[in-house]
Amino acid sequence: MAGAVAPGGEGWSSRWAFILAAVGAAVGLGNIWRFPTLAGENGGGAFVLVYFGCVVLIGLPMVLSEVLIGRHGRSDAYHSVIKVAEDSGVSRKWGLFGGFGILGAGAILTFYSVVAGWVLYYVGVMGADFLGALFSGNPMAGALAAESPETIPTRMTDLFANNWLLLSMHVLFMGVTIWIVARGVTDGIEKAATILMPAFFVLLVMITIYGAFTGEFARALAFLFTPDFSKLSPSVINEALGQALFSMSVASAALITYGGYVAKETKLAPTAVMIGLTDTGVAILAGLMIFPIVFAVGLDAAAGPTLVFQSLPIAFHTMPAGSLVGLLFFVLIFFAALTSSISLLEAVTAWAKEKTGWSRPKSAWIAGGVIFLVGVACALSLNIWSDVRLLPFWPLFAEANIFDTIDGLVGKVLLPLTALLTSIFIGWKADRKLVEAETGLSGGMLGIYRFLIGWVAPIAVFLILLFGLFPQLLG
Ligand code: PFF
Repeated sequence: MAGAVAPGGEGWSSRWAFILAAVGAAVGLGNIWRFPTLAGENGGGAFVLVYFGCVVLIGLPMVLSEVLIGRHGRSDAYHSVIKVAEDSGVSRKWGLFGGFGILGAGAILTFYSVVAGWVLYYVGVMGADFLGALFSGNPMAGALAAESPETIPTRMTDLFANNWLLLSMHVLFMGVTIWIVARGVTDGIEKAATILMPAFFVLLVMITIYGAFTGEFARALAFLFTPDFSKLSPSVINEALGQALFSMSVASAALITYGGYVAKETKLAPTAVMIGLTDTGVAILAGLMIFPIVFAVGLDAAAGPTLVFQSLPIAFHTMPAGSLVGLLFFVLIFFAALTSSISLLEAVTAWAKEKTGWSRPKSAWIAGGVIFLVGVACALSLNIWSDVRLLPFWPLFAEANIFDTIDGLVGKVLLPLTALLTSIFIGWKADRKLVEAETGLSGGMLGIYRFLIGWVAPIAVFLILLFGLFPQLLG
């Protein structure tokens, strides 16, 4: 047992278990639902380029910094930061950004579970459709063959109009998430990741190949990689940073918490780079999976959040074996979403457990229950509460419903702020020897890491936060 070391004796059983769990945390709705949506809305290649810059210059050093905080602190995000602060001889108040991260994780999970609920619903719809096609002896049928391309998008509007259905899916998804987290690090989180992530990768590669052969792959490539810089604005850059942080699961306590279960002998730097780059690779691959299919049937790449739920089923309708591929596609998103929601709940559960002394199952059910209830408000803001405004006085959110307000507040404010504090803490406050020993870096690589986390990340995040929130400063 290389792993078992951390709080309550919990730990990953191997380095690979950690990598799969952390990649599972990183790869999620952000990669498959949000990344292609944002790239589609913001001019493709230019957005991808800025996104990539954020990943390399800010995201990767952040992943390493968080995992090292966790491994040194061996506790939840809040208490791990405090431990690093104490061992560095600086104020315990730095624990605050660990707390921000935990708050961010809980806030993300409120709306994340709602969207994952839509995915679950589509797994059901496409599953029933595929079984129907199979039993009628026509497994190669297109998806929802009995419907017309005009009526397929109403599946989503019907779902949104049905509170009970929305809430049932949300309950189901949260229930599964809580059940897994309650089972523990090895028996729950690790087991889920080692089953779901390999299955996810197989599906991703299969559907991408399918899209490459049946769809417009060259157009998708051009779309994702030809930059149109006229589309870039401070708010787009802010969005790209928020998305990079969100997608890599940084600044939201999850990686600090998972780092707490990593064995002392694991080399952190290569592991962190592998996690970060896999996440980016999956986002790009998801674009290359989705856009050839979208273009094949002449759909709008800039459809926004409905791209995956309304546009793609129309594409699957006319494509060969669309009913099977449609089902596999939503199963793939479901697996990705589940491993991410597990990490979000674990970040909050580990803290609740440490703070109260409750058992793991009790902490998971109570933390998950509270998050679920706030999530109900997010779900209802899609219909009966669509007029409710949480921050009507803040122009950025004056028009936003509860769902969009929490989403925007986390992505545009809380995550960048937490990232800013993390980079200042690791770059300037934490003991240099401690950081050096945990990363295992030396020489030029250590210099590059120090430069990125101490200078590039805080300055870039500060400027992006400033101009993203106050675009008027640029005149
Ligand atoms: N990275 C996940 C995604 O891309 O969907 C979302 C996420 C998970 C964010 C865990 C933050 C986190 F701590």
